[in-house]
Amino acid sequence: MKLSGKVALVTGSSQGIGAAIAIRLAEEGADIVINYHSHPEEAEAVKAQIESTGRRAVAIAADLGSVPSINQLISGGIAALGKLDILVNNAGVEKNASFWDVTEAAYDFVLNTNLKGPFFATQAFVKHLQSRTSPGKIINISSVHEELPFPHFTSYCASKGGVKMMTRNLSIELAPFGITINNVAPGAIETPINTALLHDPAKLNALLQNIPLNRLGKPADVSSAVAFLASSEADYITGTTLVVDGGLTWNYSEQ
Ligand code: BGC
Repeated sequence: MKLSGKVALVTGSSQGIGAAIAIRLAEEGADIVINYHSHPEEAEAVKAQIESTGRRAVAIAADLGSVPSINQLISGGIAALGKLDILVNNAGVEKNASFWDVTEAAYDFVLNTNLKGPFFATQAFVKHLQSRTSPGKIINISSVHEELPFPHFTSYCASKGGVKMMTRNLSIELAPFGITINNVAPGAIETPINTALLHDPAKLNALLQNIPLNRLGKPADVSSAVAFLASSEADYITGTTLVVDGGLTWNYSEQ
């Protein structure tokens, strides 16, 4: 077990990739702060699964677009489990719209959840580590779209590009405290975020043609990368992105 004695907070961990990460980190020995926005029953199911592995867990609701709510999430997690050592900024949303149709509300929803949330959750987490003079690990669940264009998802791409630069910047600023920060960039993973795609055979087949390993990823493909970056095996890795995409990003060929 890689994470015995550690406590991890995983945002957006009631479903999808976040739930898989929360359970995997628990299997590696960490106690877990589960975070959810609107599905307490799903968060309770993840909590029960973690407790069945013998680890402690608590589920806390938060609006990641609100700094007071983020601060309550961090302080609530510390109050419940004693401390935090690992922060996984996983919660993310996307909205499909042509650029000229994007509303202010939709833009704010995406940027607040995907960029403002990780920014201020990381800030509160770093202050906690500094108060304990403790090292720590931050892992952001970004996307291949921190690099790769995704037409009709411009606000999503802007948020993920922002997370990429936040990670690079903070790797330098946080290194003196023994705090590392890295991104995991999933490609197309089978999760609730792309339910529509999964039920559209034409779109799904077109996507599969772009993936050299010829399958969608599974949440477990992402959670194993996170478990590695959260562990001491990755102590010398900071400011980088681990891409988990079946080869999608750099797939180009001429017949
Ligand atoms: C998006 C998915 C998309 C995938 C591959 C992810 O970041 O959330 O909607 O299918 O990238 O393009």
